[in-house]
Amino acid sequence: MKRVFSGVQPTGNLHLGNYLGALKQFVELQEDHECIYCIVDMHAITVPQDPKELKSHILDVASLYLSVGVDPKKSIVFVQSDVPGHAELSWILTCCSYTGELSRMTQFKAKSHNKESAPTGLFTYPVLMAADILLYDTDVVPVGTDQRQHIELCRDLATRVNNTRKKTFVVPEGRYLKEGARIMALDDPTQKMSKSAENIHSRISLLDEPSKIKKSIMKATTDSEGIIRFDQENKPGISNLMNIYSVLSGKSLSDLEKEYEGKGYGDFKKDLVEITVDALAPFREKFEEIRYSEDLIRILKDGAERAGAIAEKTIARVKENFGLGL
Ligand code: TYM
Repeated sequence: MKRVFSGVQPTGNLHLGNYLGALKQFVELQEDHECIYCIVDMHAITVPQDPKELKSHILDVASLYLSVGVDPKKSIVFVQSDVPGHAELSWILTCCSYTGELSRMTQFKAKSHNKESAPTGLFTYPVLMAADILLYDTDVVPVGTDQRQHIELCRDLATRVNNTRKKTFVVPEGRYLKEGARIMALDDPTQKMSKSAENIHSRISLLDEPSKIKKSIMKATTDSEGIIRFDQENKPGISNLMNIYSVLSGKSLSDLEKEYEGKGYGDFKKDLVEITVDALAPFREKFEEIRYSEDLIRILKDGAERAGAIAEKTIARVKENFGLGL
């Protein structure tokens, strides 16, 4: 069975982009893969975090994993900092990476605003991400396309180590869905939907109330043509909504074009509200059940133990191949 690894940062409420780009794949893959899903809290501290809030967000994200259908009987679910191998391998890989390749990462450039005072953790963030993946001999990494450059760096690092030393790492593949891989902001379809944007109507959070979902979708930016047609370049707003509709309903984009021929954006949006509310309602219900249950902590501790056992073996192999330790 192929092994899958992926992670989500515990920063704020997860949104529809996180679900359609990543979490939906997590659930599908666990049927015929060995899956390991992580809450990457050490990535979150690359920018300042309030300790109490971070703890609470870790449990929120873990609960959301389970609420959308990640099954701890099939998949390992754990918190990154509970397995020390991530930090250990991250340092070893830092010593194999170049400042040039890290400074070319677009997310670093965007988040550091090219300032010299940018945190070093932001700079080496993709190396920690590579360590997360390589620690588990991962074959497949389900993510949105915003992570593509980081996945490529991970592949480069694995190949570089394999070519200069004994074969040490499995070289993983990124897995990107066709329609959900890049969900755009509802208020500005040229930007990706993000947890941190100021305008709450730019995103739909997975725990949003139906009234909030309705407001955000009805306000979503479209164009003045008024025709429901998929054209990412010239009609990014309606194309983004069509993408969301398509992934949530299972209908193809061309079927949607046919179904809404002669109808306006208002009709389309009203139906999308209904579909989105129906899709998210079970997540909210389950979340309430799981978030404060004792089971949650037990699942995460058990997950850390199982992940830790795999990680220890990789660290031993890496140390051996690098000549580290006794
Ligand atoms: P993060 O926490 O920003 O996002 C979690 C997942 O959601 C996807 N995503 C999106 N997909 C479609 N449309 C969007 N608008 C959108 N926004 C976010 C992301 O691609 C991601 O799959 N660096 C990672 C976390 C990470 C990781 C890893 C992932 C750390 N180590 C190892 C995979 C493997 C991140 O910040 O994701």
